[in-house]
Amino acid sequence: MNNKFKLHNTLIIIGNNSFFYLDDFIHKNEPTKVFIFVDQNTKKYCLPILMEHTTYLKGSIIIEVDKFDNFKNSELLKSMNVVTEISKYLLSKNIDKNSLIINLGGGVICDLGGFISSIIKRGVKFINVPTTLMSQIDASVGGKVAVNLNHYKNQIGLFSDPALIIIYPPYNRSLDDLEFKFSLSEVLKYGLIYDKIFWNNINIDEIGSMFFKHKLITNKSNLLELISECVKMKIEIVQSDYYDEDNRRKLNFGHSISHAIESCFLEKSNSSIHHGSALALGMICETYLSYKKFKFSKSNLNAIVNKISRLFPVIKYKELGFEDSFDKYLKLDKKNINSIYQFTLIKNIGDSVVNVSVIDSDVLESLYFYDQIYRDGYY
Ligand code: GLY
Repeated sequence: MNNKFKLHNTLIIIGNNSFFYLDDFIHKNEPTKVFIFVDQNTKKYCLPILMEHTTYLKGSIIIEVDKFDNFKNSELLKSMNVVTEISKYLLSKNIDKNSLIINLGGGVICDLGGFISSIIKRGVKFINVPTTLMSQIDASVGGKVAVNLNHYKNQIGLFSDPALIIIYPPYNRSLDDLEFKFSLSEVLKYGLIYDKIFWNNINIDEIGSMFFKHKLITNKSNLLELISECVKMKIEIVQSDYYDEDNRRKLNFGHSISHAIESCFLEKSNSSIHHGSALALGMICETYLSYKKFKFSKSNLNAIVNKISRLFPVIKYKELGFEDSFDKYLKLDKKNINSIYQFTLIKNIGDSVVNVSVIDSDVLESLYFYDQIYRDGYY
């Protein structure tokens, strides 16, 4: 069974038979050339499945994007240098306006491939085939494409819709357990910002296994309904504010601090931490800020922090001196107005509020709160 959604003109198909729609698209549109962007991992584990399930992709040009940066750490691939090198390669292969680019990978490939597709020849059609839970429920949907600049995340980008999004839940089996687990932070975020019932349907047991409607999720199965509910929420939010001026910022809960810490890791250690793991820290800190600003009950604070910290290991941000330099990274948050941080916080579970001013001392206090949870426990 497939679930179908539409966002603007983009058809989104979720399910084990979703590749049929990709084949059909190519058959009907007859692109002059098809380029498939992959990385080492998706070339090995996901490309063969894509080829097996389709007829019209034979003869496509496969582009291993991580080859353009010596197989460096993935977030570092989202750079203008890599954009230039891949664009040169596409030109050498005679890409034209009627070509098609397929992004087969996680958030990095969808962001980078979507960005290149949107600027090369002033834009060619592209299709996202996200292979990680995180990109299936967030990065591939909603038309945001971007790369980083000087280690600062997503500073150069635009809004540009893919022609089609194919979500094949079993691709998650290509992820290692930890990477899959990190993706679950985006799942938790949807409950916190938008839907208390969804939040209540997620349970984490003592050993960190996640259940959705009593079905085990952390074994990477039973994902169709979970992904579909998340995508539905994302569509509703994006439809209300495509250009991210107000309501869409709800999706940014946890991200002000997580992007700052990710930028800090990129700059100071020249490596990245997983977005999902940084987001877990960001959500704990920003839940604390929400508790402080909106006085929601301690039992809610407790319940939220309990769920998140059971699932995710601690991030040792002190080793990079993040608490002394976070303001440098937070200042680049795209939501800021006049250099004043504008956070998305929650008034209650499932009820988020955008553009809340936050000052440096609040952020520091929330980091102390994070330390306390992982030091003393919070159960
Ligand atoms: N990932 C946040 C957004 O799409 O707005």
